[in-house]
Amino acid sequence: MAVRLGDIAPDFTADTTEGTINFHEWLGDSWGILFSHPKDFTPVCTTELGAFSKAKSEFDKRNTKLIGLSVDSVESHRSWDKDIEETQGQAVNFPVIGDPDRKVADLYDMIHPNANDTLTVRSVFIIGADKKVKLIITYPASTGRNVTEVLRVLDSLQLTADYQVATPVNWKDGEDVIVVPALSDEDAEKKFPKGFKRLKPYLRVTPQPNK
Ligand code: BEZ
Repeated sequence: MAVRLGDIAPDFTADTTEGTINFHEWLGDSWGILFSHPKDFTPVCTTELGAFSKAKSEFDKRNTKLIGLSVDSVESHRSWDKDIEETQGQAVNFPVIGDPDRKVADLYDMIHPNANDTLTVRSVFIIGADKKVKLIITYPASTGRNVTEVLRVLDSLQLTADYQVATPVNWKDGEDVIVVPALSDEDAEKKFPKGFKRLKPYLRVTPQPNK
């Protein structure tokens, strides 16, 4: 069955470029991002792994671990790593799962047969510190992901987890956020000492609480 938002992220043990890991143990108390790459030695994936590695300190700041996956072997990943470092000017600095038998790819429904029978699509699973799946995005093999967008949604998810707020269209870190409808005006006054604007009973905005 497909993994859905709110599910506990399926656990697994797998070989990676940084040794064998048990996913839940490896996550520990951190948030995690599991993302699939259709195949080793392919151009778009090469650029993605370089760019996410360059941004690793931004994910560290957000207590978030990155882990990639491709349905090739760890040995193949290690050989590909040299090309990534050479062409992107950055070595891969997080584990990449070797999944030649597609155990993890199947567990997370990363192969969409009507797109391609054997390669994974570009899945992104963001998993909270409670091990629950907070966000799923799926791109086709031909579209590289956007690191800035992944960081933006991670910021939104972490704000929601910590402060009972939602984020409006095109929101970026530092901008006003939305008080969730489940919170009464009275509770919102207590929770948001900077105050909030009540544009409609259901549309209330407040400065980002952690700024
Ligand atoms: C790529 O990563 O460049 C790629 C992989 C599979 C199909 C198309 C592109």
